[in-house]
Amino acid sequence: MTPIHILPVQMQKDLLKELSDKAVKCNRDEVLLQVLSDMGASFDCASKKEIEAVLHLGVSPTRIVYAHPCKPVSSLIFAKSRDVSLVTFDNVNELKKVKETYPSARLLLRLLPEKEFNARLQFSGRYGCSSTEVRHILQTAKDLDLNIVGVCFHVGSDIQEPRAYVPILQQSRSVFDIARRMGFNMNILDIGGGFPGEQNTFERFKEITEVINETLLDLFPPEDNVEIIAEPGRYIAASAFTVVASIVSKRCYQSSANVNGEDEVNRQDSAKPESKVTTYSVNDSVFGNFMFGWLYKPGSVIYIPKVVKATGDNVGRESTVIGCTLAPGDIISVSVMLPNLDVGDWIYYEDMGAYTLSTATRFNGLDVPAITYHCLEELWYQVYPDSKIEEDSVN
Ligand SMILES: Cc1ncc(COP(=O)(O)O)c(C=O)c1O
Repeated sequence: MTPIHILPVQMQKDLLKELSDKAVKCNRDEVLLQVLSDMGASFDCASKKEIEAVLHLGVSPTRIVYAHPCKPVSSLIFAKSRDVSLVTFDNVNELKKVKETYPSARLLLRLLPEKEFNARLQFSGRYGCSSTEVRHILQTAKDLDLNIVGVCFHVGSDIQEPRAYVPILQQSRSVFDIARRMGFNMNILDIGGGFPGEQNTFERFKEITEVINETLLDLFPPEDNVEIIAEPGRYIAASAFTVVASIVSKRCYQSSANVNGEDEVNRQDSAKPESKVTTYSVNDSVFGNFMFGWLYKPGSVIYIPKVVKATGDNVGRESTVIGCTLAPGDIISVSVMLPNLDVGDWIYYEDMGAYTLSTATRFNGLDVPAITYHCLEELWYQVYPDSKIEEDSVN
């Protein structure tokens, strides 16, 4: 049996249109992309494959930003052949590549945020140019007769502090001013991703966006005619998916230190429940849907399981959930309270739409998860009003 992802389509059409470019890398599920496309979203693609996937849905290339600052030449040639013209970059070598392969591209200069704020995942200088490099990069683009049309940045995924966007928006303003003085027609500001997306984070999202809107009004007022776009990934996908996994085996240990099975002496499958930690092995893995918390930043995600339907009693017991591979580090949830479950029972994890399916591997023969899709009727008809008319006329 394979783990299941469930996608309820809960997003509000207008909000999506406003937010603009969905970051495909966080979840490439075709149905999700199709619904987003039908709702009028645009897309941030990081590779040739992602561009292909989005174009395949019938999305116009004008609704795609190729948002990887360092691209293979072959991918740039591909972007050109498909008229995906909005492309990010952050260094002069990339400019030389663009000059040779796609000189008519509309370029967004990625900036490195000079101040770091608390985020679930920091990008820590991996991409983006610093303020000291800006003039040299702009001058190189001028000399090469390339077309820089704006700037972009990413403040870090799942940003915790509402003010995180303020300093980088100030940096962006000053780059706009320098570039305009040099003769570039700057008209796009791409504020990237970073927004929270789990179910209980709407207040934080609101605070963040209020600060962004105030700052934008001050630094990029409407009369400046700058198009503002964003690349939310987690915000759109996280709460849309639930991972459901079944228990494939169960063991009891005297302490949670033994989840790797190292201290066999203390293992007592028949010891009293209150003195033991129960370890459940499920048909998913940190090499499957639970990769994010492990690969990106160990400890950055605490996965809390819920029970679909317990066949045993309902008393909470200290439990550990481990993945089904043989890797010692394949531990999904430690010290969580679960009732007495049996092999074959199901547990589920909510808010599993961002960086789960898209980072899952096939290590140890892991299955590609089966996905079932659910949607409230009234939401479905909001997105697809014509399907109601068609159904009515059949009935
Ligand atoms: C360039 C870019 N844009 C957008 C995103 C989406 O970020 P988030 O999921 O934090 O919204 C990412 C994530 O890595 C990214 O690298």
